[in-house]
Amino acid sequence: MVRRNWSAAALAGVLAVSTLAGCGGSDGADSGSGNDDGKITLGFSQVGAESGWRTANTKSIQESATAAGIDLQFSDAQGKQENQITAIRNFITQKVDVIAFSPVVTSGWDAVLQEAKDAGIPVILTDRAVDSQDTSLYKSFIGSDFVVEGQKAGEWLIKEYEGKTEPVNIVELQGTTGSAPALDRQKGFQEKIAANPNFKIVKSQTGDFKRADGKTVMETFLQSTPDIDVLYAHNDDMGLGAIEAIEAAGKKPGTDIKIITVDAVKDGMTALADGKINFIVECSPLLGPQLMDLVKKADAGEEIPARVLTEETTFTQEQAKEALPTRQY
Ligand code: AHR
Repeated sequence: MVRRNWSAAALAGVLAVSTLAGCGGSDGADSGSGNDDGKITLGFSQVGAESGWRTANTKSIQESATAAGIDLQFSDAQGKQENQITAIRNFITQKVDVIAFSPVVTSGWDAVLQEAKDAGIPVILTDRAVDSQDTSLYKSFIGSDFVVEGQKAGEWLIKEYEGKTEPVNIVELQGTTGSAPALDRQKGFQEKIAANPNFKIVKSQTGDFKRADGKTVMETFLQSTPDIDVLYAHNDDMGLGAIEAIEAAGKKPGTDIKIITVDAVKDGMTALADGKINFIVECSPLLGPQLMDLVKKADAGEEIPARVLTEETTFTQEQAKEALPTRQY
């Protein structure tokens, strides 16, 4: 299927007709340079391949597109916002039917989103939010509530130290600076731990959601701060890198330093079951099937929900042992 290149005036007229007819961008009026095989073309700009979560997310999107008969134009931004903006502009030039993307960072999207809107191409935010005030620039946002994830991490810690009076030194490995999960997981966690004045975040630095960065940042934390009680890592990969640093420093992860992470990918769950991590807040990467449903509806001009929330749980060490044999990612 190909997409029209509507001028603003023509768009207004066509929209009126489309609304009356109850359909959108998939009638026979298409013209342009996209594919003409009757399939919906989805342009998807992925953040990169920074973590196990991201790899699972990419697989889910690619497999679901194939299963749904959607022609997926996939672009890997390698962690750079400028690459995502270029990819989105290319999708607009190609006249794809729908654009979806997982924004590397929250800010700086208004101009390119306006260009997509002007071209009549619906945009669906996947996994991560943008901070645009004009929410008409995108049709829907599918993904987790990262603030709630941070709160769940904080709640576990509060319970873990219930009735104890000693100071608790916490180090935090943040995700990519300026990204929605880093901002929100920090916010939710801080909100909850504020209830216990003994909790102190003594160090907080980005590890960019990467295992190698988690390791090097944890090494510096261990050198500068000998009495670390708790590590809160914004994802499993950074936590796993930090475990290497903790072991190399002669300490026992999960015992000498309690570790909380987010994601619940297989490697993280294995470390949890092995006692090296104490608690994981799940963040599901399996967004593909729901995304493809939204893409089909958006292409057909149907109303779609502005927010689609992912259902998620948490895992203790015992729960990880039970869940591991059937874990999909
Ligand atoms: O946006 C989701 C986050 O991005 C995941 O928690 C993290 O692992 C990934 O890189």
